[in-house]
Amino acid sequence: MKTGSEDNLENYLSQRRALVEEALERLIPGEENAPSLLFRAMRYSLFAGGKRLRPILCLAGAEAAGGDPASVLPAACALECIHTYSLIHDDLPAMDDDDLRRGKPTCHKVFGEATAILAGDALLTQAFTLLADPRHMPSLPPLTRVKVIAEIGKAAGPFGMVGGQVMDMAPPEGRGEVSFLDAMHRRKTGAMIRVSVVAGAMLCGGDPMTIKALSSYGERIGLAFQIADDILDVTGDPGELGKGTGGDRRLGKVTYPAVMGLEASRRRMADLVDGALTDLEGLDERAHPLRGIAKFIMERKS
Ligand code: IPE
Ligand code: IPE
Ligand code: MG
Ligand code: MG
Ligand code: MG
Repeated sequence: MKTGSEDNLENYLSQRRALVEEALERLIPGEENAPSLLFRAMRYSLFAGGKRLRPILCLAGAEAAGGDPASVLPAACALECIHTYSLIHDDLPAMDDDDLRRGKPTCHKVFGEATAILAGDALLTQAFTLLADPRHMPSLPPLTRVKVIAEIGKAAGPFGMVGGQVMDMAPPEGRGEVSFLDAMHRRKTGAMIRVSVVAGAMLCGGDPMTIKALSSYGERIGLAFQIADDILDVTGDPGELGKGTGGDRRLGKVTYPAVMGLEASRRRMADLVDGALTDLEGLDERAHPLRGIAKFIMERKS
């Protein structure tokens, strides 16, 4: 799919989003299951809207590696489940204490804290069921499946997102240094974004050179994505974002704008996106969606 112009990218993203929505609807257990409260809370947050960036990156990674994007949809859905779990927990009173997410009251506001914590737990574990169950992606070689599960576990866990969230909540001495900021952002947000692209390619048998290029691309856009998130917390419009702004400052978070100011943050983000585009130079037109997504990450308003 060509994504040369902004219009094309928008079409691409909305078509891909529709594929992801349809797959999530099909693969995530419905509210008729018991206890209904749990499934309602899981689905409330999962289907509240959201850009679906990680699953779309997984599909685009598959395409860039020469595979069929539709064949990796269960993995794409698993990545969105892990991401949504991270948002539910991130919004809890013990963490960022936010009331609005994806344009709606946060999970704990609607269902209470205990159910929100458990809905997050359930989305995380359900994600690994989706990845491991051989009824999904049945023609996948077992070793590839296991390697992908290990990569995603690493990205979501203590060496990835969860570790980054702890750095965010309990920053040590030296917190104002860019090296700390980079390390934290790479883990709390970058790791899941990187693995989304890489998993898509691995699942389609991508060759080592392609995977290496995609890994570097993913690392750079992952960091750029969190810089954009930090900037939007200062400059964004809550209506467009679907979440509150100003929370980072209120909570004294270590963010890019707080450490180096808005202009330098924007420059750093642009440099990262340039680097990510360079990473893709050896790939053909099937990597075009990834090129569009890199620019989208920098220019997005929500
Ligand atoms: C928000 O992620 C949390 C971060 C990692 C910065 P997104 O901006 O991708 O949120 P949704 O999925 O579109 O709601
Ligand atoms: C959260 O970062 C990253 C996650 C792993 C969820 P933020 O706390 O900045 O995300 P928002 O701004 O609440 O979406
Ligand atoms: Mg947070
Ligand atoms: Mg937050
Ligand atoms: Mg934020």
